[in-house]
Amino acid sequence: MSTKKDKFSIIDEVFMELALDLAKARKGLTGTNPSVGSVIVKNEKVISIGQTSFNGGPHAELNAIKNCVDNLSGSKMYVTLEPCSHYGKTPPCTTAIINSKISEVIYSINDIDKRVRAKTKKILASSHVKVKSGLLKNKIKKFYESYFYNRKKKLPFVTGKIAISKNNLIYSKNNKKITNKLSDKLTHYLRYRNDSIMISYKTLNIDNPKLDCRIKKMKKFSPIRIILDNKLQSNEKNYIFNSVKQNNTIFFFNEANNSKISRFKKRKINLIKSNIDKYKKFDIKKVLKCLFNVGCRNLLIEGGDDLTNHLIKKKIFNEFYLFKSQKKFSKLVKYKKFNGLKLLNQIYKNKIKLKSNFGKDTVILHRI
Ligand SMILES: NC(=O)c1ccc[n+]([C@@H]2O[C@H](COP(=O)([O-])OP(=O)(O)OC[C@H]3O[C@@H](n4cnc5c(N)ncnc54)[C@H](OP(=O)(O)O)[C@@H]3O)[C@@H](O)[C@H]2O)c1
Repeated sequence: MSTKKDKFSIIDEVFMELALDLAKARKGLTGTNPSVGSVIVKNEKVISIGQTSFNGGPHAELNAIKNCVDNLSGSKMYVTLEPCSHYGKTPPCTTAIINSKISEVIYSINDIDKRVRAKTKKILASSHVKVKSGLLKNKIKKFYESYFYNRKKKLPFVTGKIAISKNNLIYSKNNKKITNKLSDKLTHYLRYRNDSIMISYKTLNIDNPKLDCRIKKMKKFSPIRIILDNKLQSNEKNYIFNSVKQNNTIFFFNEANNSKISRFKKRKINLIKSNIDKYKKFDIKKVLKCLFNVGCRNLLIEGGDDLTNHLIKKKIFNEFYLFKSQKKFSKLVKYKKFNGLKLLNQIYKNKIKLKSNFGKDTVILHRI
């Protein structure tokens, strides 16, 4: 077993990059488990790959072993996260690795899970599997930021997003589209990458949004829809109601009457009663805790002005995407302004202007 800082070749880096790409491709789609990528190499040729299965199990290492048609004896496994060594929903990956006769494992970062942390190396080494760790550590640590946040805080990692016009409007009647098709792609990618999406009933009633992922062939990876609706005032003719599937829609409420509650339940909507404060607003920390307990790990919030401002003030967002278009919107019709720009720049002051081609739009990623 290696104890000092392990050394790696450029070729090792290439295979670990491939494992990371596999993990990235499944981010947000692995339920409560982190998305892991694994690559098996023999004589410097890739002989198998694996990703964490949809909704979490089996793990990437086991999938890579199962996917392999070659003899694994003498091969090397690259994996983005420390392989598990405990019985969870699936048997330990260390056992599968040992039984497969893989001779070396290179993983990037230690798991934060106490059941795994630091045990893997000992277990594999005692069965004569060579183990190294730390390859592309900084890059892969960044990738697992949301997973580590989930495990430490027992809360979903929260991404915020709002689109504003040149004159800072987020709504202007008769002019629904703010951003262009290029930046819409990022919006839909965010919906793909997050397992859940939240809005308020006010936005639901004004915009009648679909809240789904409209990247070609990716609709099935649309997030679970979460609506904050204290009195269940959402208009039941809206799209969301006509597209309810089992466990894809949650409404948070507190003061709704029984007839509304039973009507929503009949439509197979999951209802969660949650605390409100003296201003009759939901206690968002409680909402997040509750969402974590039902399996939400990555939440996208596409709030309007009021909700977004509240969440900025409370520092609920882990990251925030500000989409800005060059279109000037009319104030001669009913409109809504985003009043949170100053606060966003004060609290979330670390800004990166995204470099992708968004045409005339700009996208700034804000962090605290
Ligand atoms: N351009 C964009 O990116 C974008 C995105 C979303 C929406 N919009 C636009 O924004 C407008 C709606 O914005 P809005 O400011 O009126 O409403 P909003 O931000 O969508 O929702 C605010 C409402 O949510 C409820 N709420 C419950 N708990 C809350 C909490 N903890 N903090 C804050 N709100 C909470 C409150 O309603 P109650 O007090 O009645 O319970 C509150 O008035 C629409 O015109 C929509 O088109 C634009």
